[in-house]
Amino acid sequence: MRNEVAAIAREAGELAAAHFARLPSLRVEEKGPLDLVSEADRDVERLIARRLAESFPDDGLLGEEGASRPSRSGRTWVIDPIDGTFNFLRGGANWAVSIGLHEDGRPSFGAVFAPRRDQFLIGGPGAGAMINGAPLPRRPAFEASVAVVGVGLHPAIPVDDQMAALRFIAETAGIASRNTGSAVSDLIDVATGLVDGYLGLGISSWDLMGVLPILEEVGIGTTLDWDSVDLGGKLNLVCGPQPLLELLDPLLGSLSC
Ligand code: IPD
Repeated sequence: MRNEVAAIAREAGELAAAHFARLPSLRVEEKGPLDLVSEADRDVERLIARRLAESFPDDGLLGEEGASRPSRSGRTWVIDPIDGTFNFLRGGANWAVSIGLHEDGRPSFGAVFAPRRDQFLIGGPGAGAMINGAPLPRRPAFEASVAVVGVGLHPAIPVDDQMAALRFIAETAGIASRNTGSAVSDLIDVATGLVDGYLGLGISSWDLMGVLPILEEVGIGTTLDWDSVDLGGKLNLVCGPQPLLELLDPLLGSLSC
């Protein structure tokens, strides 16, 4: 499975990069306020869905741009063809292809490829975790006095909740924050240690399914209770080492969204 998924993620990233090289001619539509989709997203998702269906014909599919196939195996591949579409369409580097396997009710394996950052991660619980072909090291112990967290706030989240989150991080937790505009890029930054963790509000399962299993393998957890996660719904979560989850978890219970 590893080799097949790696090949599909590579091919998808190369197709996305080919579209990125002709940005001015891409057709772009608005899905909602501050939410864009381009022919690149759709084309890359079609490729991933076709390749996964060929390799794993009994597995289900769920994609951000509409890919959908019922599962006959109990396993479902959850796809974000281009996470960070806004960045992609503006010529930025923070975007990635994400393919994750949902199995036995939780993320079990994933591959993410950020071509413009030259980062390819693959793995999952019990399957190892690799970055660019090398083992991903476990993160050093969390130190609150120098901590920084990536933040992703979906535009549909009420502004009061967005402000409450930023206030909580700066004032209550007393830590720094960063924002790449791509949940997968933020979570890759957790893997490489650019940030200690991630706070996401209004995040979708396809933003998470590819990279969370890789992080779990190196001891990074989340506040999500997978038994109650709706794969089509919006999620609020913290991801990081246990002390960071405990530091930021009270915020989640205080929000209206
Ligand atoms: C978005 C990005 C962003 C997050 C949004 C997502 P997309 O994904 O991951 O960081 O805050 O909630 O929708 O639409 O670019 O695939």
